[in-house]
Amino acid sequence: MAVIKPKMVILKNGTEVCIRNRTLEDAEEMRSYMESVFSNDRFFMTTNDESREFRTVEKYGERTEMMNGHEHKLLLITEVDGQIVSISDVDCGSKKRNQHVGQVGISIRQDYRGLGLGTVLMQTMIDWATADSVIEKLALGVWAKNAPAIALYRKMGFVEEGRKVNEVKYADGSYDDCICMYRFAE
Ligand SMILES: CC(C)(COP(=O)(O)OP(=O)(O)OC[C@H]1O[C@@H](n2cnc3c(N)ncnc32)[C@H](O)[C@@H]1OP(=O)(O)O)[C@@H](O)C(=O)NCCC(=O)NCCS
Repeated sequence: MAVIKPKMVILKNGTEVCIRNRTLEDAEEMRSYMESVFSNDRFFMTTNDESREFRTVEKYGERTEMMNGHEHKLLLITEVDGQIVSISDVDCGSKKRNQHVGQVGISIRQDYRGLGLGTVLMQTMIDWATADSVIEKLALGVWAKNAPAIALYRKMGFVEEGRKVNEVKYADGSYDDCICMYRFAE
């Protein structure tokens, strides 16, 4: 995994947070974080029930180790008083022909949203990708009804490159499109 220098940031409400790489020691805290985020959010492809099978300390350890072995992948957490309040990552393609594309992921605990953390994390990932020797393009998929996420991505220079219609079906029977967005790392 690419290593970044831990970054201290003051959020809009005055709280100081630390953005740093995720380590194997974070596995237990990761489990608590994912429990809280999955139980409250509908904007993930994986439902809360489905997520239970991989929400284990072992699985988090495995993924962290897998990312550790790859210098063009970035795995970040944001920590406050020993608790994880956000996870984010850039995961480059696994083949020679798509390794220049980094898939971006981000989630923030509910009580830390709207405080500017998403903006700082996206900028951190963009800066890292710009400096990386392999990644040239950042890409992501977002549900069309996820207004806060779309607002964040647009603010950070991402634009729509396509749309998968009715790609998602919610529990209430309604559908949503998946908007594919990208920006170049520059
Ligand atoms: C999407 C998410 C990462 C945004 O992070 P955040 O820390 O709340 O974002 P910020 O506070 O930096 O806000 C960024 C911009 O988004 C917009 N925004 C923030 N909250 C918003 C809301 N509730 N509704 C609409 N726009 C919003 C604002 O324009 C803001 O820019 P500004 O501060 O210059 O006005 C966060 O809401 C989240 O974790 N959501 C759940 C998980 C998720 O949906 N992940 C993305 C899956 S694709």
